[in-house]
Amino acid sequence: MTTQSYLSELFSLDGRVAVVTGGSSGIGRAIAGALARAGAAVVVVARRREELAATVEELTADGCRAAWVSADLGTREAVRAAAEEAAKAFGEPDILVNSAGINQRPPMGELGEDVWDITMAVNLEAPYLLGQRFGPGMAERGFGRIIHVSSQQAHRAFVQSGAYGVSKGGLESLSRSQAEAWSPYGVTCNTLVPGFVMTPLNARLSSDPERVAALAARTMIGRNGLAEDFAGAAVFLASRASAYVTGQSIFVDGGLSVH
Ligand SMILES: NC(=O)c1ccc[n+]([C@@H]2O[C@H](COP(=O)([O-])OP(=O)(O)OC[C@H]3O[C@@H](n4cnc5c(N)ncnc54)[C@H](OP(=O)(O)O)[C@@H]3O)[C@@H](O)[C@H]2O)c1
Repeated sequence: MTTQSYLSELFSLDGRVAVVTGGSSGIGRAIAGALARAGAAVVVVARRREELAATVEELTADGCRAAWVSADLGTREAVRAAAEEAAKAFGEPDILVNSAGINQRPPMGELGEDVWDITMAVNLEAPYLLGQRFGPGMAERGFGRIIHVSSQQAHRAFVQSGAYGVSKGGLESLSRSQAEAWSPYGVTCNTLVPGFVMTPLNARLSSDPERVAALAARTMIGRNGLAEDFAGAAVFLASRASAYVTGQSIFVDGGLSVH
């Protein structure tokens, strides 16, 4: 057996279909690119059309199969419609990645129900609804991968965790519930846990060099995360190689959480 065919057997996503929410920016975009380059046909879902189109253009220029669906995952009806549209592009997905997320940061005392509701809707309810839509089909077909993207704030309070930390804590619990339900049928469900990653989500914090340096110093590796740092872990969790890994929270954080 050649090295290439060995690696291919473990990690290739040839013939797989993936739906990646938030696939037009930051961590989601890096994951969408990684899955596509590993062989999957990828549908990216987010609101802004220009970013979606640019992502798909980059992937197709690289010889990958990719499509986009514009949807606001903040309402249940829109999530349901987006799921149907996403499944039309390349068929029912084998891989679902929930990376779309928002982080509004009012201090707890000023946290209103509007911020609470939209945070729960995008960060927790959309992943739940998409899991309900795609999980049973994956189980029926005997293969599936659900990958959530949570946050260190699922585990500890950090810069006004507010509703955001609560939604991410719920997301990791959702992942374990899904794992319990569908793992017997070949559908693994896991969560990637970023530390501090330099993406548009953190534009305000990232533009403060002192805060950036202080956060980097809290990691063991000595730098903050980059979206590309999630490529390898995502391909692993999406592939056959991770068949016995389920219900886990995998920290891709340069050691931040254990420092
Ligand atoms: N960056 C970090 O340090 C960090 C740390 C911990 C966890 N995370 C998590 O990692 C995930 C990705 O974040 P990121 O840093 O890559 O942020 P990002 O670059 O801002 O990407 C967020 C993505 O979600 C989409 N999105 C946001 N609201 C949406 C909505 N209502 N409907 C549909 N799509 C929506 C955005 O596209 P549109 O705006 O066009 O809709 C975008 O594609 C998030 O779940 C975040 O909570 C990030």
